[in-house]
Amino acid sequence: MCYAIPGKLISLKDNIGVVDYFGEERKILVDKGEATVGDYVIAQGGVLVRKIPESQAEQILVDWKESFEKLKERDASLTSAPDVTGDTKFLQILQKANLKQTLSKEELLFLLQTTDKKQLQLLYDFANTMRQKEHGNASCTHAILEFSNNCVFDCEYCGIRKSHDLKRYRLTTEEIVARAKYGVEQLGFTAFVLQSGEDFSYTDEQLVDIVKQVKSLGVLVFLSLGLRSKALYKKLYDAGARAVLLRFETSDEQLFSKLRPGTTLKDRLSLIKYLKEIGYVLATGFMYGLPGETDETIINNILLNADLAPDMYSSGPLIPTKGTPLKEEELISADTALKIIAITRLVSSDSNILVTTALETLEPQARKQGLLAGANSLMLTLTPPEVKALYAIYDGKANKEDRLLEQIQETIELLKSLGRSPMDIGLIQ
Ligand code: 5AD
Repeated sequence: MCYAIPGKLISLKDNIGVVDYFGEERKILVDKGEATVGDYVIAQGGVLVRKIPESQAEQILVDWKESFEKLKERDASLTSAPDVTGDTKFLQILQKANLKQTLSKEELLFLLQTTDKKQLQLLYDFANTMRQKEHGNASCTHAILEFSNNCVFDCEYCGIRKSHDLKRYRLTTEEIVARAKYGVEQLGFTAFVLQSGEDFSYTDEQLVDIVKQVKSLGVLVFLSLGLRSKALYKKLYDAGARAVLLRFETSDEQLFSKLRPGTTLKDRLSLIKYLKEIGYVLATGFMYGLPGETDETIINNILLNADLAPDMYSSGPLIPTKGTPLKEEELISADTALKIIAITRLVSSDSNILVTTALETLEPQARKQGLLAGANSLMLTLTPPEVKALYAIYDGKANKEDRLLEQIQETIELLKSLGRSPMDIGLIQ
């Protein structure tokens, strides 16, 4: 979905625009009065974030055309539809998916319980082909800025839970905006996930101000503030935030309330649905590897995720973490994580699927493996180096070192090696 190169707005009806990228058309959200047909625009996460002067846009497009074509060719050469002819149950399920028929719970469970390496490879290749059919070689890389590790809740899985004796930090408005500015001006990011624990010490007005200032940098403001009031989320939407990340964590109601004391799945889902209704681009998902979870729970999670029809699917493994009641839990396998990505792609063929930092923590090769098993989206941590290690929602968090510039370079290299367009990171200043 994210081609952070300029594209020409070729049509606009209500708030839905169509942008042309070298002949490929993609839909974006356009706020009233932000652009008119014929303008060159930069979009991120399916949202227009800024206009760009025609001469500048044309220059960038001339410079990019050749590399863009080459990347597409590479992606195509690495994505070959596997041969799924045959009459084993496994192949029949893939054939059904190929015909875009709905797979039953039992069939999804069968895929999740597959352990044969050859079959798993087929499943990943199949999901990767579906990813390419839906999205071409587009991929999104968003920056996450974790601005406070204070939290009023005591979730059993989370390292920044209230009762964990941990050094706390809270960035000021100026620090948040300065970091975002650095991310835009020096690193070329066009989307920021502003994440924090459930920290009520920022006033609504302060959060509105932060959103307005970050948005004015010409970027997508993507909120990840947890369980906050509908009224606050509405205010922040009106202030210009356009995307939100709020996981439902698990589809099992009892497990949910056990892990998030004092809260219910019902309320969480009501908030998630409300956010979508008021117009936010929605990212949601679940954690897997939770105690008491079964394979059925995982399939129910995938199906609930699909029902919520988010714009982005963000799910990741539980990383058992010190200072939490789940510190002794067993880690789930990387294969299960990849199966979940691939099955999500099969169930929701047009989804945008993130390889989460938690998965990278579980498996260092996760980005490449995930991108080849149906995923098309990555995250980079832009949290200031002085506090990055304190945002310890889980132990051993990947990318917590102060080497962002190298990480950006590695990400660009990885995306290029897979023929994905790394155009939303660092390439367009
Ligand atoms: N392991 C993995 N993910 C975690 N999260 C919180 N704690 C952990 C953990 N120990 C995830 C939750 C939350 C998101 C911000 O981080 O899913 O929604």
